[in-house]
Amino acid sequence: MTRDKYTIKFTQPVTSNKEGLQLATPEIVAKYIAKRLKTEIIADLGCGIGGQVIFFAKECKKVYAVERNPEKLEYAKRNCTLYGVDNVDFILGDALSEDTKEMVSDADIIFSDPARPLSEKERTLENLEPPVTGIIKLYSDITAELAFHAPPQMPPERINLDCEHEYLSLNGQLNRLTLYFGSLKECERSAVVIPGETRLCSTEAPVIKEGPLFDYVYEPEPSVVKANLLSELARKLAGTGKEILYYKGNEKRTLLTSPGLINSPFFKDRYLVLGRTEMDISKIKEKLRLEKAGKVVLRFDIKPEKYWETRIKLENGLSGTRTLHIFGFGDEVVICEKIKS
Ligand SMILES: C[S@@+](CC[C@H](N)C(=O)[O-])C[C@H]1O[C@@H](n2cnc3c(N)ncnc32)[C@H](O)[C@@H]1O
Repeated sequence: MTRDKYTIKFTQPVTSNKEGLQLATPEIVAKYIAKRLKTEIIADLGCGIGGQVIFFAKECKKVYAVERNPEKLEYAKRNCTLYGVDNVDFILGDALSEDTKEMVSDADIIFSDPARPLSEKERTLENLEPPVTGIIKLYSDITAELAFHAPPQMPPERINLDCEHEYLSLNGQLNRLTLYFGSLKECERSAVVIPGETRLCSTEAPVIKEGPLFDYVYEPEPSVVKANLLSELARKLAGTGKEILYYKGNEKRTLLTSPGLINSPFFKDRYLVLGRTEMDISKIKEKLRLEKAGKVVLRFDIKPEKYWETRIKLENGLSGTRTLHIFGFGDEVVICEKIKS
């Protein structure tokens, strides 16, 4: 598969303008969302170039694809034809109008993937386009089953609604937050990892224990960290006889640790711990030489303009072949080697 401008997100050569393609949901994510929202009739309000509609059409009997931009709606039609789906009613109109509501009034689920406005002062559910709050107000008397995408970095306190917050990571990066209402809500918070579609839900799990630094450390998937599900992950692993402990971290960088090597789809990366020292260039270099390092990857808070300067200082004089990762937490650094899966 070539990685041209379409195939980064789609397996077929979709038709779109630049903006439509940028806003489109990647096929692999759209497939997951469509499976989770499988129903008889679904309405996608603000369907863009149809990235999500195509996969709703494969899972559901009928899809309403609503879009206010005629050019994008045209692309959506062509893209549905390209993917061989013909059970979509395309509606050119404003998602917030009574006319549109009337046309989709037999939908079982109302879905929207709103765009972020170019000039937003504060990211809220009101200033997305179409606005999530406006849709909830207008469509709640049709169905309680609503689902929305929202920016994953939006602080949870700005989403003070009774819904499931599902964070999704794609190829190790936080990709989106989806809010599920009504009977679509299965728990308070959840995390999904794609590819693989493995999912973890919030429960009353005992708080993950903090541990000393063992021989192995793990970076959990960002969706697990963002959904605050480290304790649930620890409990899940404990159920399979594997103990994992919390070492250190924050929302940007978290490490779990265990004395024996374990695996989980909820780990982004696994590392062998080689040692730890102070946040001091000469002490770190000493360890790097001992471990026959040749290259380093810096995994601590550092100003972007300082990254290469520091990295070159650390690599200067190293003659080994190993690439080592240096995690930093305050005054401490942990030197590790990534375990290839
Ligand atoms: C993030 S894009 C949707 C992308 C889509 N999920 C895809 O995969 O192609 C949001 C879309 O909502 C449309 N939109 C914004 N406000 C709307 C409104 N009030 N009524 C209908 N469409 C609207 C925008 O034109 C934009 O195409």
